[in-house]
Amino acid sequence: MTAGKVAIFDTTLRDGEQSPGCSMNLEEKVRMAQQLETLGVDVIEAGFPIASEGDFAAVKAVAATCRDTIIAALCRTAEEDIHRAARSLARAARPRIHTFVATSDIHLEHKLRKSRKEVLEMTRFAVRMARNLAAEVEFSAEDATRSDVDYLCEIFSVAVEEGASILNIPDTVGYTLPTEFAALVRAVRERVVADKQVTISVHCHNDLGLAVSNSLAAIAAGARQVECTINGIGERAGNASLEELVMAMHVRADQLPFENGVKTEQLYPSSQLLSTLIGFEVQPNKAIVGRNAFAHEAGIHQHGVINNPLCYEIMTPESVGVPSSNLVLGKHSGRHALALRYDELGYSLAPAELDRAYRAFTKLADRKKRIYDQDLISLLGGAKAQDSGLVFAAATV
Ligand code: KIV
Ligand code: ZN
Repeated sequence: MTAGKVAIFDTTLRDGEQSPGCSMNLEEKVRMAQQLETLGVDVIEAGFPIASEGDFAAVKAVAATCRDTIIAALCRTAEEDIHRAARSLARAARPRIHTFVATSDIHLEHKLRKSRKEVLEMTRFAVRMARNLAAEVEFSAEDATRSDVDYLCEIFSVAVEEGASILNIPDTVGYTLPTEFAALVRAVRERVVADKQVTISVHCHNDLGLAVSNSLAAIAAGARQVECTINGIGERAGNASLEELVMAMHVRADQLPFENGVKTEQLYPSSQLLSTLIGFEVQPNKAIVGRNAFAHEAGIHQHGVINNPLCYEIMTPESVGVPSSNLVLGKHSGRHALALRYDELGYSLAPAELDRAYRAFTKLADRKKRIYDQDLISLLGGAKAQDSGLVFAAATV
C-alpha cells in the first residue's frame, strides 16, 4: 500500500544551471533533458526564458524534444515575462507556466519595493494571464518560509482562485527546519487547499544542509511535488538533491510509502552525464552518486561487506546504476571490457562507435593511469567532435 505519488520536478536546467560554474549550451541542455526523461522525472523545468536568448532557445528546444514529460518555463509576474514563457512552450506536448513573486516583507521592502496589496494584485494578474496561455499553471511564493503565514495563505488563495493548480512553497534561502516546514505545509493544506484539486509543491535550498530533510518532512505533511536537481546543484549551497530524495523514499519505504516514477538505476548515469557536461566533479563522499558512496577501505568494513554487503550497504550499487564490475580499465583493457562499462553507464554503442571510442580510449590510457567513468563519457563527446558520430548528437529544432 502506498500513500500516493510524489511528482519529481527537476530544475537542474533552471535553478541548477543558473548557479556559478554550472552553465550549459543548448545542445548540452537538450542532451541532459533527454537523460532526465529517461530517468523518469515528471517535470523538467527547462529555463527562465526572459533571462536570455539562450534560455529562450533552450526551453523551446527541450519542449520540442521531450514529449512525454511536462516542460515548465519560469517567469516573473510581468506581462512580457509571461508571454515569453508561453512562446517558449508553444511546441510543448505538456506545457506548464511557472510564475513566481516574492512574498516576504524583506523582499517586498528591499527588492520589489511594493506593498502586500500590490503583490497580491500582481499575483492575480499573472496567474490569470498564464492560465489563459497554458493549461497548467504553477505559482511560487518566493521566500515563503520567511513570509507572514496569513499573507502567504491569502496570496495562495488568490492564485488558486485564478486557476493555479500547483502551489509551490520555496525555502528560497534554506532557512527553515523540518518540523517548522512541515507545520507550514500543513497550514497551507488546511487553510488553502482543503478538498480542492491543487498540488502542494516544495522547493528547498541547502544553505543549512537541510534541503532533503525539509523536503521529506514536507512530503510527510502532504506535499506531493518536490523540486530538486541532479547532484544537488543550484543557487549558493544548491537545491535538494534528486538522487537523495528518491533513494530516501526507496530505501525507507517503510516510513515514506510514496511512489515516484524515477528509474533508480538511471541515477548514476544522470549524475555522471551532468558532471561531464558542466565540468563540475561530484564530491567523492556525496550520498548515492559520489565515488566513495559504495567504497570500503577499512579492514573491518571490507570483511563485513565480503561476508554480506548488507553489513555496510543499505542499497546495492546496481540499484542506483553504479557499475559493480571490478574490471579496471587501463591500457591493457580490450574492447569487450570497454563495451561492458559503456553498457553499464547506459550507452549501447554500435560497432563503429565502439571502434572510435576504443581508439580514443587507448590513446587516453597511454597518458593516464586511471580512467574514470566521466572520462569515458567525455570520450564519446570527443569521438563525435572528430568525426560527427551520433553518440552525443542532440535533437535540433
Ligand atoms: O528558490 C526559489 O525561491 C526559486 C523560485 C523561483 C521557485 O527558485
Ligand atoms: Zn530556487
